[in-house]
Amino acid sequence: MVKIGALVSGGGTNLQAILDAIDKGGINAEVRAVVSSKEGAYALERAKAKGIENTVIRKKDFENAGDYEKALAKYFKDRDIDLIVLAGFMVILGPDFINEFENRIINIHPALIPSFCGEGYYGLHVHEAALKAGVKVTGATVHFVTAECDAGPIILQKAVDVMDDDTPETLQRRVMEQAEWVIYPEAVKLFAEGRLEITDGIVKRR
Ligand code: GRF
Repeated sequence: MVKIGALVSGGGTNLQAILDAIDKGGINAEVRAVVSSKEGAYALERAKAKGIENTVIRKKDFENAGDYEKALAKYFKDRDIDLIVLAGFMVILGPDFINEFENRIINIHPALIPSFCGEGYYGLHVHEAALKAGVKVTGATVHFVTAECDAGPIILQKAVDVMDDDTPETLQRRVMEQAEWVIYPEAVKLFAEGRLEITDGIVKRR
């Protein structure tokens, strides 16, 4: 059984999609701990509703980013966590956290990487950029997290059509419904089955 630790900052719909998929069965994993970077994040309510241990660890309560990351890593290590799932986590993580969980941290990005990604591309900004570029297809990407923002090995992607009358909000919703909530649980399942192999930065599904 793969023990998951989730990092959240907001609504937690991706966390919910993973919890629902685990409940349905067929995924050999459990979400054991949820940590939010912000108080009041609705994702914490989702954790509470499932009786999952949860807490808030805020960056501003630490002297520097390294100390914050060490505290996060310790929290998950103390709970014997195998896989870290970033589910709408609004803090960029550095080496003090990433090196502790090498190839065991995954993230979802609401675009088809390498488009519309990297620093500054978060939330509605991603969808604004896609509409501005006039792309006709966008989507979501699940990837492993490395030191470079949104540049880790890609696990799964799913395309979503862009409509002529889309606003950033309608596009965000469609990308979530049709892509994010589908491929994030799938990626967790692949990880839990030990089917993800990384060679030279490329994921092969066994
Ligand atoms: C999602 O769009 C996800 O792709 C991005 O942040 C958003 C989080 O939404 N990383 P939620 O908190 O899962 O509802």
